[in-house]
Amino acid sequence: MSKYLPTYLSKEDNLSAEEAQAIHDQTGRVLEANVVPFLAKAQRIMGSAFLEWRGEGKYILTPDGTKFFDCVGAGGVFGLGFAHPDIVEAVTLQARRGGLATRAGFIPGQAELAEKLLSLTPKSLQYVYYGNSGTEAVEAAIKMARVATGKKKLIGTHLGYHGMSVATISLSGIGMWRDGIGPYLEGTQLVTHGSLAALEEVVDSDTAAVVLEPIQWASGCKVVDKDYFKGVKALCEKHGAMLILDEVQTGLGRTGKVFAMEHWDVEPDLLCVGKVLSGGMVPISAVVYNQRVHKGERMRPLFNNSSFGGNPLACAAGITTLNLLSDRYFQRAEKLGDLLGESFEEIKSKFPEHVAGYHGLGLMRCLEFSNPLYGAVFAEWLRRDESIITAAMGHIPQFVRISPPFICEDEDIVALKESCLRVIGELAKYTPQELFSDFNKTLQKVQVELAKPIEDQEGALA
Ligand SMILES: Cc1ncc(COP(=O)(O)O)c(C=O)c1O
Repeated sequence: MSKYLPTYLSKEDNLSAEEAQAIHDQTGRVLEANVVPFLAKAQRIMGSAFLEWRGEGKYILTPDGTKFFDCVGAGGVFGLGFAHPDIVEAVTLQARRGGLATRAGFIPGQAELAEKLLSLTPKSLQYVYYGNSGTEAVEAAIKMARVATGKKKLIGTHLGYHGMSVATISLSGIGMWRDGIGPYLEGTQLVTHGSLAALEEVVDSDTAAVVLEPIQWASGCKVVDKDYFKGVKALCEKHGAMLILDEVQTGLGRTGKVFAMEHWDVEPDLLCVGKVLSGGMVPISAVVYNQRVHKGERMRPLFNNSSFGGNPLACAAGITTLNLLSDRYFQRAEKLGDLLGESFEEIKSKFPEHVAGYHGLGLMRCLEFSNPLYGAVFAEWLRRDESIITAAMGHIPQFVRISPPFICEDEDIVALKESCLRVIGELAKYTPQELFSDFNKTLQKVQVELAKPIEDQEGALA
């Protein structure tokens, strides 16, 4: 084994409890001191920190072998789970062939991936641009729409999410990421998702594009009316604006269809994909777009470019992912999604006082609790007592996101339902006040620690 390998990779998969704890503590110390100080500190005080040592199928494991069933990893990246053997094989073969590319020559993976992607998207979408992340895909789509239309105005939505760059945040509507980073990209405006009337007020002949997710995860996966997107498309066509659909999260099986837009029978001018396309192995994103966009950018062949976008390792992961999805996992995702919907219906009917409802489609779902505190406690207890990772949302904590991988068996969804029922049953033994006093004590500890001057924070300058 090379002496230059990362220390953690030179260790065994399974370690003794003492060694595992030592690596956990050392990792936590550096992350808290130098990388994500506030987050790492909050996780330590809340007792929710764990070490992501390795991934295997639907599980993420700590070094002492503790397994967590991942039901939300990185917002739905792990549709095919961790370390899928076919994807490992593809990426390893490409690594041996040189890894990345100079970009001076043709890259075969870019062509094969484009053919596969285009076989899954509507016929009107014929061109592909590759990026490294969802953010980059939406950024590129915005630029293309502006160049193609010669217009500047862009419409996004409240509670929308398109990424972390200034342009994508300007079109996203979640305060905790948006506040304090303005001035926002000139010409951007937000409206309520799902309201055609709200869009009609703002879309006009100056509008370059309307940027929408089919389902906003940040609204708690609320599903909009059947005729909404048809109306949006007609409105865009009337004013010569482009429709950009951000399917970074919803795309490639997550909602039970290949693309979520199929639920509304709508075709965008530009379609953004990412997350699952990586196979959980090498980041990649893409914008798939139509002739009208292509005409607009034809004089500027390199106007979108990146050192890493569409690199051979990522293409190898992407192609293998699409092959696997087409062979069996699109079908699995649809079936499992129906089962998850039925499970949530049962959970709601058994605990009507605690569960206000559920939202989403396929394997992209949210449980909505009747009290914000229930959501936060539910997600925490599900992790602590049932070893299942879900996510309560900071800005709407009564909502908990649950997005299992497509590689699950039916029994996994049934077991997930049973776990949810057990945790809600436990939670129902307490009044919100009782839960609140316990939870609040820990939260207060976090707040007090984070409010101290940096120099006084425990471990800050270690
Ligand atoms: C709908 C949507 N768009 C864009 C992004 C940004 O993707 P990335 O984190 O890969 O930049 C996300 C990430 O969660 C997303 O859910």
